[in-house]
Amino acid sequence: MEITTEEFNVLSEYIHRKSGICLPIEKKYLIQQRLMPIIKKLNLNSFMELYDRLAYSSNSNLEHEIIAAISTNETLFFRDDHPFETLHKHIFPKFCTNINGEDSQCKINILSIGCSTGQEPYSIAMAAHEYVQANCFISKIKIEDFNILGIDISSDVLLKAESAQYNDIEIKRGISDERKVKYFNKEGNDWIIKEKIRDIVEFRKINIVKSFMMLEGFHIIFCRNILIYFDRETKQNILKQLLNILTDKGILIIGASENLFCLSDNFESRSFGSTLFFEKKMEA
Ligand SMILES: C[S@@+](CC[C@H](N)C(=O)[O-])C[C@H]1O[C@@H](n2cnc3c(N)ncnc32)[C@H](O)[C@@H]1O
Repeated sequence: MEITTEEFNVLSEYIHRKSGICLPIEKKYLIQQRLMPIIKKLNLNSFMELYDRLAYSSNSNLEHEIIAAISTNETLFFRDDHPFETLHKHIFPKFCTNINGEDSQCKINILSIGCSTGQEPYSIAMAAHEYVQANCFISKIKIEDFNILGIDISSDVLLKAESAQYNDIEIKRGISDERKVKYFNKEGNDWIIKEKIRDIVEFRKINIVKSFMMLEGFHIIFCRNILIYFDRETKQNILKQLLNILTDKGILIIGASENLFCLSDNFESRSFGSTLFFEKKMEA
């Protein structure tokens, strides 16, 4: 069964309205491929029948299933490495020490947007643990001073993130042997993240295309490899909200292939090593 242009148009408009994800006509094959299993499962005869179900039955389970099928959940531990090194060497010290280099009151709230199956927030937690260990003789900072919140639109990926359970292939993508011993327990064929790391990470289901102003007070926001899926207007709306939930001089870290060019004037771009990141302007 091949999706027609009319079917593509109504379904891509629906997906855009619900999740902000933009699907240009070149992505017709993606809708066809990813929605076909749902069509078969529901015994439907066409993509238009699927759209009719969505549009006229207010079935929120089906809506979630469609968004989850369309979303790209690709992720890995310590993706691109350098942002986590920058956290350790440059960003954590910025929030944990005062201008004399002494300990300052330190509670660091970190948000991981589009956290998928959890590898990103857990990598941040491991980086925080390593920062605490490396500074234990000169600083009073404790691992409990870090709070990390992972958010995603998809319940399926969040369930997996909360389980903190990964297979060998997932572990091999980014976890060194040293970190495997330090942060994971073996259970059957899988690996479960140790409590000391899980204890500082929480997850919530939030669609960032809608309002997420119930969140506040983040010092650092990871918003990596998600803005690329949205159109310009949606990106601008998200950035406005990010600005409001960041503390003064809060830091925004985006993906390697993303930029804020012409999207917002309220962030100052900064770099450390290979990491380009953005600092909220004081007056913003
Ligand atoms: C490609 S993954 C990126 C994962 C991780 N940030 C990384 O860089 O490895 C994008 C994630 O964004 C989530 N996502 C897509 N649209 C979203 C929305 N409107 N609100 C919240 N999360 C969304 C998807 O479910 C997916 O898990």
